[in-house]
Amino acid sequence: MTPAEITDLISQLTLEEKASLCSGGDSWHLQTVERLGIPGPMVTDGPHGLRKVADGSMAGIYDSVPATCFPTAAGLASTWDPELVHDVGAALGEETRAEAVSVLLGPGINMKRSPLCGRNFEYFSEDPVLAGILATELVRGIQSQGVGASLKHFAANNQETDRLRVSAGIDERTLREIYLPAFEMVVKHAKPWTVMCSYNALNGVYCSQNRWLLTQVLRNEWGYDGLVISDWGAVVDRVEGLRAGLDLEMPGDAPRNDARIVEAVRNGDLDEEVLDTAVARILTLVAQASAAMADPGSYDIEAHHQLARRAAAASAVLLKNDGDALPLTGPDDVVVIGEFARTPRFQGAGSSKVNPTRVDTALDSLRHIWGDVPFAPGFALTGESDPRLAEDAESLARGKTAVLFLGLPAVAESEGYDRTNTDLPADQLDLLARVSKIAFRTIVVLSNGSSVGMAEWDDQADAIVECWLGGQASGSGVVDVLTGKVNPSGHLAETIAVTLSDIPAQLNFPGEFQHVTYGEGRYIGYRGLDVIEREVAYPFGHGLSYTTFDYSDLDLAVRPVTDETAQDESVLTVTFTISNTGDRTGSAVPQVYLGFPDATVNRCVRELKAFRRVELDPGKSRSITIDLTRRDLSYWDILLQSWAVEPGTVRVEVGRSSRDLPLTGVVILDAPTVHHPLRRDSTVAEWMAADEEFAAKVRRATEQTGIDLDSDPTTAAFILAMPAYKMLQMAPIMTPEELDEMLGD
Ligand code: GLC
Repeated sequence: MTPAEITDLISQLTLEEKASLCSGGDSWHLQTVERLGIPGPMVTDGPHGLRKVADGSMAGIYDSVPATCFPTAAGLASTWDPELVHDVGAALGEETRAEAVSVLLGPGINMKRSPLCGRNFEYFSEDPVLAGILATELVRGIQSQGVGASLKHFAANNQETDRLRVSAGIDERTLREIYLPAFEMVVKHAKPWTVMCSYNALNGVYCSQNRWLLTQVLRNEWGYDGLVISDWGAVVDRVEGLRAGLDLEMPGDAPRNDARIVEAVRNGDLDEEVLDTAVARILTLVAQASAAMADPGSYDIEAHHQLARRAAAASAVLLKNDGDALPLTGPDDVVVIGEFARTPRFQGAGSSKVNPTRVDTALDSLRHIWGDVPFAPGFALTGESDPRLAEDAESLARGKTAVLFLGLPAVAESEGYDRTNTDLPADQLDLLARVSKIAFRTIVVLSNGSSVGMAEWDDQADAIVECWLGGQASGSGVVDVLTGKVNPSGHLAETIAVTLSDIPAQLNFPGEFQHVTYGEGRYIGYRGLDVIEREVAYPFGHGLSYTTFDYSDLDLAVRPVTDETAQDESVLTVTFTISNTGDRTGSAVPQVYLGFPDATVNRCVRELKAFRRVELDPGKSRSITIDLTRRDLSYWDILLQSWAVEPGTVRVEVGRSSRDLPLTGVVILDAPTVHHPLRRDSTVAEWMAADEEFAAKVRRATEQTGIDLDSDPTTAAFILAMPAYKMLQMAPIMTPEELDEMLGD
């Protein structure tokens, strides 16, 4: 339908019909209007696999049609591979279309403020650049198949505790620089068909009716013209939501809220144009989906499974590999321990849960290539510790290479609640301690949705592979890594701290009395641990390979920033060489971080601004050139209400992780001084620095009273820090009217 046809269709709708379109027809379908032949397309989860309930009900949340369960976002993010993530998106889109679903409700891109968040498995990272780049590719992939994505949960849904009521208290710089940029990047570069508003409030206003968020930022500033859909049950005041920019309520409280909309228009509380705008966006979505819904097509189940396997292998992060314990060279003396090898944990609980087309276990995958590898469960998933299981495992492991499959049981982390600690279950820690004492080698393979504490047991493992929740092919994917068929190339998208109390956000997590203060500001993840100079177990960006890479030849070229320089204009070019110094082909992920050591505003020690994924054969090198833009160097200036760049030193660091940056260089950026317009409450010091006439007047006035601003720091501090208009009350160096005139008031 063209915009004109949509407008014409709207003109034929009754007020009641318009209102009914603004909420779902049932849990998973938009409202139909039979009279005018308007269909009600289906929308459904989820971010890493289609969860289409067979009967369309909310009740059947786990009775869904079989679909490929890919690695969850925590895993996909660890690939740092935009192309692979795009391929996964395309596969998700194919399956969504084949099942006649118009919108897939994902990806989730909320920042990982605390490792305790129960839905971290569904989210990408603690860093907005990594999350933004990868989620952009996932959405592009999904939508390349003619169906839509739903970017969620907009915004600041960083915990599950009290998620339907809690208000996230976040200062504006932190919002702009940490919690919004990934959404901004995806909205601008991938144009998701829908954006899903979150349950929580932001600074006291529910996101489902937060006009600043849904209209001012999302539409007016970022130029979004798609549909804003509520999270399921997130609407509080439907009419207020429409005014704020929330187009579609799901699953729809149809009769009551529809009537409220009709009444609001009838009594003049709601401008019908606002309603028409929402209806136009809904009809646009219906039109967008019509082509795909008319030709759903099909998909290759096996090909998607193989893609899931490739993605699972690429998600695996080799954290430690002492003595080249990995790759395993053959079946001799290898024993497999841990129930997760036989019963893999490959996805999270809640709305994202997929009914997989098949599941590969690590044990079967290993036995498929190496015959009857010995196995002992070691622990029960029920959580009841059974000493015999550990004893059997211990005797099996004696003198062998023991591969332990450990991790978090499904009950440990889920949508709907947060963890209270980051520990592995006690029975698993006990098993590891016992096995590591008598095994020849101990290799730990982890399955968990968000980071687990490792400090107390890291030294018991010769090698550690973090697999996150790797999807239905996690078992075969990790065996491809363990046996060396695939050279690991995963890198951490979230820091693994030494201890939970090292993480600044933990001072305010999960809040209380329906409020959570993001007191740590921008200092989440590596940003926080860098600024408080804490050691970490494994840093953001870390990931080993079975080969090694060297970095050299850093070259920096910087160009002046002027008032005319566009946000997306390149101002700093970073060139370096990466070499494969090992004996096998491998992929590296060189990362570029920026720091601003002489900034006049608080800046993080370093921030990821770009990365590349580079595959190199042994002995080969490649020169990489990365252009950074004005926006990459910017901070959000509260007074200017815009992105600002300061002149001065820019430190560039290039390397393997946020704590392993072999290449460092600095440039001096030439840019206009950031000028804040003078106001009545600008300080005397600010006024004197910017206005010579004002400075002369102050000096005259103070000298006349015997004060020498240069030699009397105490008095000077008192006067210079004073808001200008207050100083006039103390020292009439000019009249308030003269000050108003200087201000142009
Ligand atoms: C859930 C989730 C959201 C999901 C929706 C539909 O509560 O917060 O991510 O897409 O409802 O299941």
